[in-house]
Amino acid sequence: MMKIKIEDNKVCDIKADIKIVLVVNKDFNHKSVKDKKELEFLGFKGEEEECCLVGKTLYVGCNSLYREDVRLACGAAIKALKKTKAKSVKVGSYLKENLQAMAEAFVLASYSFNKYKSKKSESELKEIVISTEDYKGDKITPKNAKELIQKGEIIAKVTNFSKDLVNTPPYEMNSLELERVAKKIAKLEGVTCKVYGKEFLEKEGMGAFLAVNRASHIPPRLIHLVYKPKRAKKRYVFVGKGLTYDTGGLSLKPSDYMVSMKSDMSGASAVLGVLKGAAMLDLPYEVHAIVGATENAIGPEAYKPDDVLTAKNGKTIEIKNTDAEGRLVLADCLCYACEQKPDVLVDMATLTGACVVALGEYTTGVMGHSSKLKHSLASSAKLSGELTGSLPFNRYLKKLLKSQVADLCNISSSRYGGAITAGLFLDNFVEDKYKDRWLHLDIAGPAYIEKDWGYNQCGASGAGVRMSLYWMMENLKEEA
Ligand code: BES
Ligand code: ZN
Ligand code: ZN
Repeated sequence: MMKIKIEDNKVCDIKADIKIVLVVNKDFNHKSVKDKKELEFLGFKGEEEECCLVGKTLYVGCNSLYREDVRLACGAAIKALKKTKAKSVKVGSYLKENLQAMAEAFVLASYSFNKYKSKKSESELKEIVISTEDYKGDKITPKNAKELIQKGEIIAKVTNFSKDLVNTPPYEMNSLELERVAKKIAKLEGVTCKVYGKEFLEKEGMGAFLAVNRASHIPPRLIHLVYKPKRAKKRYVFVGKGLTYDTGGLSLKPSDYMVSMKSDMSGASAVLGVLKGAAMLDLPYEVHAIVGATENAIGPEAYKPDDVLTAKNGKTIEIKNTDAEGRLVLADCLCYACEQKPDVLVDMATLTGACVVALGEYTTGVMGHSSKLKHSLASSAKLSGELTGSLPFNRYLKKLLKSQVADLCNISSSRYGGAITAGLFLDNFVEDKYKDRWLHLDIAGPAYIEKDWGYNQCGASGAGVRMSLYWMMENLKEEA
């Protein structure tokens, strides 16, 4: 386990194996850059994420002192140090507002998923010491610094927790395992957990969720965690798509597209991470995490194209493609979520390949009826380092979901705008009263990427966790 410490000393007076120096905006004349000549000789340009070790000093390029640039630089430093035998490193604090971001980057970049490797490639790094001395030569108070670092550590740790759930193979991470994980979270103070099975779903008329589960030999689970602090100011309800595997069902995915579909429970893992984070950060908000967990399998019982299903709110759905299964599970979960009387309702889902086509792999698609709510989330996401893009609803796309035989169809009649039509499908299951309090986040792109990017590793990234926690923390500042 790696520890982050704060020391009320100048960087040069701290003992550690390696010193990290950020070369900010290519300013080689800053007093912290002591090896200008050597760096020039070695061809170090100070570009983003570029690293160069001179003796026991690791220089890292950093575009600016804006938090995401600092995160990228700190992440690059950790990545470079993983290959060394360094046990301890030291670094300055680079402005107070960056401390939390630095802690986040150190913890996020240290993550590795080793569980299935016989030879574990663990980093030897045990300790990071951050000095209270900052870039301008100012000093920050140790108490304040400690709090910021703790916050950053919690946010990053629960993000890493979400990554673990997604990276775990589908045979292990099924609906029953998600239930166990949720019950473990419920051991935290203020957290309770209820888990429902098939009988409950039948009783509640959740015919869409049940249909998706039909071909699976593992029972469905509706998991409902609540974190309830004393005197909560507001109620946030998060709903996550928990498809522990998506084969596509009878509308079977081609082999190449099926690989990595263990990540189809990334929405679920994100809402579990958010709830855990809210409890660990002692946020004064009531937070719910609702997960619809099952797998989309094939078998004699599988639901079929041409089937008509009835969701919890009574709406009937004609199935034209069994690979559009996430929206069916979410339909029933959103009805259930509205019954919790949310002040804010957010669903997170790896819902469409179309969202990845529209925004690229790194960006979460944000949809909803309230521009104010969308903007508020997007600005917090930006602070958190997560990327978002807004995808606008419109009445014409909504009409593409019409069906000849049922109230609506589970896919659009057009091949264009697939991320938005999926969002508009979900809109049918959000009660009128809650429409303006609802956001849909399509995390199909950033949730799972098969290469390293920034301080994220190949595989799961925990998309949605950091932006949601930042969002609640920012809302708290606004309310104060
Ligand atoms: N889980 C997939 C979406 C997905 C695709 C997630 C790529 C991550 C990466 C979802 O269930 C799905 O298959 N969606 C279909 C919808 C289509 C049938 C309308 C898709 O995007 O192709
Ligand atoms: Zn699918
Ligand atoms: Zn899916």
